[in-house]
Amino acid sequence: MQLPSYKEARSRKKELVEREVYQSSKDVILGKGKTYYVKTYGCQMNEHDSENIKAMLEELGFSESLEMEASDLIILNTCSIRENAHNKAFGMIGRLKHLKESRPELIVGVCGCMAQEEGVVSDILSKYKQVNFVFGTHNLHRLPYILKKHLDSQKQEIEVLSVEGNLIEGMPVKRASKHKAFVNIMYGCDKFCTYCIVPYTRGKQRSRDKADILREVEQLVAEGYQEVTLLGQNVNAYGKDRNDQYCMENLLEDVAKTGISRVRFMTSHPWDFTDQMIHVIGQYSNIMPSIHLPVQSGSSRILKLMGRRYTKEEYLDLFDKIKKNIPNVSVSTDIIVGFPGETEEDFQDTLDLVEHCKYDNAFTFIFSARENTAACRLKDDTPLREKEQRLYRLNTIVNRYFLENNQKLIGTVVPVLVDGCNENGKTDLFGYTDTNKLINFNGDQSLIGKMVSVKVTDAKTWSLDGELVEF
Ligand code: SAH
Ligand code: SF4
Ligand code: F3S
Repeated sequence: MQLPSYKEARSRKKELVEREVYQSSKDVILGKGKTYYVKTYGCQMNEHDSENIKAMLEELGFSESLEMEASDLIILNTCSIRENAHNKAFGMIGRLKHLKESRPELIVGVCGCMAQEEGVVSDILSKYKQVNFVFGTHNLHRLPYILKKHLDSQKQEIEVLSVEGNLIEGMPVKRASKHKAFVNIMYGCDKFCTYCIVPYTRGKQRSRDKADILREVEQLVAEGYQEVTLLGQNVNAYGKDRNDQYCMENLLEDVAKTGISRVRFMTSHPWDFTDQMIHVIGQYSNIMPSIHLPVQSGSSRILKLMGRRYTKEEYLDLFDKIKKNIPNVSVSTDIIVGFPGETEEDFQDTLDLVEHCKYDNAFTFIFSARENTAACRLKDDTPLREKEQRLYRLNTIVNRYFLENNQKLIGTVVPVLVDGCNENGKTDLFGYTDTNKLINFNGDQSLIGKMVSVKVTDAKTWSLDGELVEF
């Protein structure tokens, strides 16, 4: 049994991580004739990890079930970012207790960011016996062995590493889409924003070798993929943990040169956003003009307490530079309200900033104290009701700008990658514009996975309606 330790997770060792190639376990047919169901919470990083988990299970002979209740193996890939993500996963673990009572042969595994938390693992050990095995974010590739260990011992198996191991290349992947793909470019985060649990659950920043990334993208192009999203907690810092001087702007340019129709990337921390990056994004038409640039707060005082390393003015300078130099760019953001000590005046600064930036999209949250982070020790005397009101006031303003920005597109023709059809009709298609706006329009299902031009006919707060122009 290997349990997580926050103390170790906090440590950042200087040595470069080693590259290791995944050893497939095809000879261990544990899952022949059995089915699995993977439930994913959290961000794209977890979604992509689940694509690896599914492929590993299929190598073991399992097949995917669309119905959780009927499957033989259930894996919960969890998220720790806020209290409600936690509660959702624990709610599900509770439900699985009943399911397991009626089907004792059911196997339940827990992984993801919550598995890296000391408190969660000790709760699973003491209270949640329905969980058969736990593995963490650093040893995803060990799933086949941990599962086998559980099947052999019939005991609760826990293998969570607190410190990241090698960079594992060549893991199998079962992608959710045939035309859009996630490509990890780096793992972990060294920023330690004071509210955030991610540097503890995902370890230190490790960038993948450029050759591995480019090979993966080239392979996707050869398979007919139209879009890649380069993933990392802080993609702009790509390469800073390596010593080859190759950084995000170089990688973006090389990925664009593979000829893939669309390149997206997330998430960008404002701190590492360079002028060269802006230049490259503006220069390549296949790098989408859509940037997620989390601000978190518009108050320089709160930004300092958050450990974000920029002031309101510095953020606005960067924002304006991006708007000026990348044609037609859309910018989205994340904002936290009710950080410990946030006053009405600080909150007004956030509203002012939002009035300036007129974001195309924004994810807004109430601060949630996370175990062991620096911010969870700060005095927080704003009542929850007050925080909820701030969130409501903020949302009213950001929503107004989403709608206004969308309305400006009425009458224009936008490029769209067709994602699928809505449930309510076979010719009712949807996709995303270059600026990452959801658009609904009529067309034949054969267009799914293709690039089309759509004329915008109507605008709503979170989506557009349109008509197909050509295909
Ligand atoms: N790496 C990304 C963010 C990942 S978490 C970045 O730095 O931009 C996604 C968002 O969740 C964050 O941008 C932040 O707005 C929010 N978040 C993170 N920790 C939080 C907490 N403790 N309480 C409330 N929101 C939080
Ligand atoms: Fe969390 Fe900050 Fe790292 Fe983003 S940059 S993952 S918010 S610590
Ligand atoms: Fe959640 Fe972990 Fe992603 S905490 S947001 S799943 S990195």
